[in-house]
Amino acid sequence: ERPFQIALIPGDGIGKEVAPEGVRVVEAAARRHGIHLRFTEIGWASCDHWRAHGTMMPADWKAQLQGMDALFFGAVGWPADVPDHVSLWGSLLQFRREFDQYVNLRPVRLFDGVPCPLAGRQPGDIDYLIVRENTEGEYTNIGGTMWPGTEREVVLQQSVFSRRGTDRVLKYAFELAASRPRHKLTVATKSNGMAVSMPWWDSRADAMAADYPQIAVDKQHIDILSARFVLQPDRFDVVVASNLFGDILSDLGPASVGTIGIAPSANLNPERSFPSLFEPVHGSAPDIHGKGIANPIAMIWSGAMMLDFLTDGTGAGRAAHDDIVRAIEGVLREGPRTPDLGGRASTSELGRAVAERL
Ligand code: NAD
Ligand code: IPM
Ligand code: MN
Repeated sequence: ERPFQIALIPGDGIGKEVAPEGVRVVEAAARRHGIHLRFTEIGWASCDHWRAHGTMMPADWKAQLQGMDALFFGAVGWPADVPDHVSLWGSLLQFRREFDQYVNLRPVRLFDGVPCPLAGRQPGDIDYLIVRENTEGEYTNIGGTMWPGTEREVVLQQSVFSRRGTDRVLKYAFELAASRPRHKLTVATKSNGMAVSMPWWDSRADAMAADYPQIAVDKQHIDILSARFVLQPDRFDVVVASNLFGDILSDLGPASVGTIGIAPSANLNPERSFPSLFEPVHGSAPDIHGKGIANPIAMIWSGAMMLDFLTDGTGAGRAAHDDIVRAIEGVLREGPRTPDLGGRASTSELGRAVAERL
């Protein structure tokens, strides 16, 4: 049987520290379930490559990655010497766009043993999925500066909302909500302040809602939606949002369940025309890099999502995913813990602890 081809792209900072732990656990779970994987480590898509070559990636990057089944990605960015828009537009954002990974799926869950910063919340109270549009919206490089350097200086940054781009991510979110017991979908909007894009986004959501009478659809402005992530997190099941709103919600949600160090994401091309990309929500964390204390669970959980997506239809990947999530649950409940969760364990101690539980 042909092994799944996975490009391992550690990137920068703690991306390089959590990636090996992700591989350790994914390989162990795959072995148990008879899933064959072949990892190819890629050193580019990193600020090291930029320092050496002046670009984040080789010119033929797309050809090199196109045949992969998935990309397993750490984190990119080293703002001390590479501007963030250069490093991210030169790597991660290219992958999302060129491989049409239009769904960014980001689960948020409160685990037993992880102190919740929201008073009185128990595991089970907070368990929702953020579906973030991942290829357009507010994330563009379209715009410019007029009269630069003068008193009249004006900066324009365009947003792009296409009907195809909006409908397909809404569709994914509606289907996901339909597959879950609560049948609830929250649509993030800002149709009061943003007078063009968001009223239109709402109208696309309304049009689709007509096809899903069984789904309870709740449109909320992004400001109060953020407040409710904190005050009433049990209200949420599936939340769909534009690129920027989804980005902000997907750090707020994980923070509200104790640490961003465990939050995973799946950047999906659901049609499988291109490889999908699996990565932690967090970044390269220059402030803690080199100490070996980064929490690897976000990377490990992202790897579980990768196995599930890769083997869709066989069931082996789902079982491997569930095993990994159970092992994560066990470690979060009983330790060891990295410092972001109040412990003293190292990145690799945590990775080994999760692997041993498999
Ligand atoms: P960040 O997520 O890297 O770090 C934010 C804070 O969370 C830091 O204090 C960090 O120490 C902590 N943290 C993050 N991950 C952790 C983990 N696994 N365990 C323990 N603590 C963790 O966000 P930032 O500081 O805004 O960005 C740093 C760099 O990373 C920038 O270059 C940014 O552009 C980039 N970035 C990349 C990605 C990505 O590659 N997907 C995502 C976010 C930020
Ligand atoms: C994320 C990150 C990226 C984003 C950055 C690094 C461009 O914050 O994956 O959430 O904004 O999408
Ligand atoms: Mn983010």
